[in-house]
Amino acid sequence: MNPGLADVLAGARLLPVLTVPDPASARPLAEALATGGARCAEVTFRTPDAEQVVKAMAAHGGLIVGAGTILTPEQAERAVAAGARFVVSPGLDDEVLATCRELGVPVVPGIATATELMRALRAGIDTVKLFPAEAIGGLRTLRALAAPFPHVRFVPTGGIGPDLLAGYLAEPAVLAVGGSWPATPAHLDRGDYAGISRLTADAVKRSTP
Ligand code: 3PG
Repeated sequence: MNPGLADVLAGARLLPVLTVPDPASARPLAEALATGGARCAEVTFRTPDAEQVVKAMAAHGGLIVGAGTILTPEQAERAVAAGARFVVSPGLDDEVLATCRELGVPVVPGIATATELMRALRAGIDTVKLFPAEAIGGLRTLRALAAPFPHVRFVPTGGIGPDLLAGYLAEPAVLAVGGSWPATPAHLDRGDYAGISRLTADAVKRSTP
């Protein structure tokens, strides 16, 4: 059986979501995140060189690197070949799920409704991304969706910042929280790796009880 996301994350509860336009940033970014205490990261496939970014960040060795914004089976294949240890998608696509299962990596589909969650369960998934978490009602929606599905673990992502982090993580159904705020394209653009380490350290502190 495939490992689940919980196995791969091994207790990490902060999932920095990264969009990295220039692969030259990948290595210093990995270093900055690791220095701040992050243990994992999700590289979104929203940039042409995302595969190279995954490769370089995985080669750093200090982070568990996954791929995000995976929309097609082909992207999942390329991500895993580049070294992604898990796959995240904004929505639920049966072919992406099947491909990840064949590749032996955990896949975390995005869901926003009970119907989508039931489709995920039927496909054998028990960990989902609640997306876009804040826009669909935040904690209230998370609690309401978690109630009928006590075995499901959630990775809420979307619109979550440092002030909301601890509230989400206090929910028993929440495995980890995703967010782009610790390392944004604007940080990368100005080479602000110290800022990334600082925001990451602050988030790690907030996510540790
Ligand atoms: C994602 O792809 O998971 C989101 O874009 C991250 O959401 P955020 O930028 O609102 O943190």
